[in-house]
Amino acid sequence: MAYRALFVFVALTIVTSLLVLPKARGNSEGDALSALRRSLSDPDNVLQSWDPNLVNPCTWFHITCNQDNHVTRVDLGNSNLSGHLVPDLGKLEHLQYLELYKNNIQGSIPSELGNLKSLISLDLYNNNISGTIPPSLGYLKSLVFLRLNDNNLSGPIPRALSSISTLKVVDVSDNNLCGPIPTTGPFEHIPLSNFENNPRLEGPELQGLAMYDTNCS
Ligand SMILES: *[C@@H]1O[C@H](CO)[C@@H](O)[C@H](O)[C@H]1NC(C)=O
Ligand SMILES: *[C@@H]1O[C@H](CO)[C@@H](O)[C@H](O)[C@H]1NC(C)=O
Ligand SMILES: *[C@@H]1O[C@H](CO)[C@@H](O)[C@H](O)[C@H]1NC(C)=O
Repeated sequence: MAYRALFVFVALTIVTSLLVLPKARGNSEGDALSALRRSLSDPDNVLQSWDPNLVNPCTWFHITCNQDNHVTRVDLGNSNLSGHLVPDLGKLEHLQYLELYKNNIQGSIPSELGNLKSLISLDLYNNNISGTIPPSLGYLKSLVFLRLNDNNLSGPIPRALSSISTLKVVDVSDNNLCGPIPTTGPFEHIPLSNFENNPRLEGPELQGLAMYDTNCS
């Protein structure tokens, strides 16, 4: 009888843990945000509420979720953060607003951000981001606002961005970009001032002259 009771107890424990554990652990969006937190330095403790043991990140400060508990906003502008962005951000497939402006973030823009199919606003302005603008951002078919100004970005403005028909605001001023300014699609309506202070960027009027800058890659 004792063996039988023990067997039932063990079997029930296993079944219960199989049912409960996957819910209590492993929220992929929470994991992605925790990876971001580990990669940032946060002297003002704005990420203090980001407890990875919660079922999902929806109660964390600076995070907004939709009704299905998927993350739709990350609002961390002006938060005195430094450190790097992480490829894991590309897993936030319901994200609409990524607001990280006015910090001191370094490193490059992960090409995985091109996976954020729902993204409306990518605001990384006023940081210290270097490297190139990933052409994968051209996959962001819902994007309206792309503000990358006041960073240290180099290389060309990816032509793929001109295929984003929803794009209304592009600002890449005050960087170190080079090559021609795209003129088609959404770029028809972007004022030239949003490209200024990139010493090696060529005006759109030069595009027809086959003046290819071989140093721009
Ligand atoms: C930002 O963090 C630094 C420490 O890295 C601190 O000295 C400074 O006071 C903070 N600035 C603000 C506005 O909180
Ligand atoms: C910006 O980042 C570069 C490294 O990419 C670093 O050398 C520089 O000190 C940073 N500037 C500021 C103002 O933090
Ligand atoms: C920009 O990046 C270059 C290296 O690519 C570095 O030498 C320079 O210090 C950076 N500028 C600023 C303002 O951080």
